[in-house]
Amino acid sequence: MDVKTAIESRRSIRKYKPDAVSEELVKELLEAARLAPSGTNHQPWRFIVIRDRSVKEKIQAAAFDQEYLSQAPVLLVCCADLSTYGKDTRKRVEELIAVGAMDPASLDTYPGLNKPKDAEALKGYIPHAMLNVALAMENISLRATSLGLGTCIVQLMKAKKIAEVLALPDNLIITALMPVGYPEQSPAPRPRLALEEIIYQVI
Ligand SMILES: Cc1cc2nc3c(=O)[nH]c(=O)nc-3n(C[C@H](O)[C@H](O)[C@H](O)COP(=O)(O)O)c2cc1C
Repeated sequence: MDVKTAIESRRSIRKYKPDAVSEELVKELLEAARLAPSGTNHQPWRFIVIRDRSVKEKIQAAAFDQEYLSQAPVLLVCCADLSTYGKDTRKRVEELIAVGAMDPASLDTYPGLNKPKDAEALKGYIPHAMLNVALAMENISLRATSLGLGTCIVQLMKAKKIAEVLALPDNLIITALMPVGYPEQSPAPRPRLALEEIIYQVI
């Protein structure tokens, strides 16, 4: 499937067949996530792969009881790891310099590269980290479509409650949930704004 077809045929799927999704296919999806772009190549995405029905049910309960969350054979909890911004930035910059994607002078000019960041400072990275995780999730959605799988990005949830269920450390910020399974529905395209409505200005 080419990218255009995947983009055009992807839908948010909210009804799944009970058929299992193999380990191999889940790895294919996570591989698509791994290859997503991220700011300074921080790759802050981390995934919790849930197949256990009782855990899925607990998460569903903390996500306004959206029932397809436990119905889907696999539930991904997509997180941003804030600690990557505290300890890995220099390493990432050095790697990018080594492959010629960044100027060696970045080691002197990269903002705050050598400044230690406490938990409060790391919170400032949440929007940036979540943006990166969102890109990885879109890669997963499109790869899933190409494999005949359905997904849905689900953000209507009580993230704090889910973090408790999973006993997540504070540095892992839940960005969204993503059920994965074989679609039991084939929805028509959902409405979209016209091109003229999304072009704010052409200068
Ligand atoms: C950030 C984000 C959060 C979303 N949260 C939910 C959600 O909590 N529950 C849900 O059923 N769908 C959710 N969706 C799916 C949207 O409703 C869906 O993408 C939109 O209606 C367009 O439909 P389509 O994805 O089938 O094209 C979310 C999508 C995004 C991108």
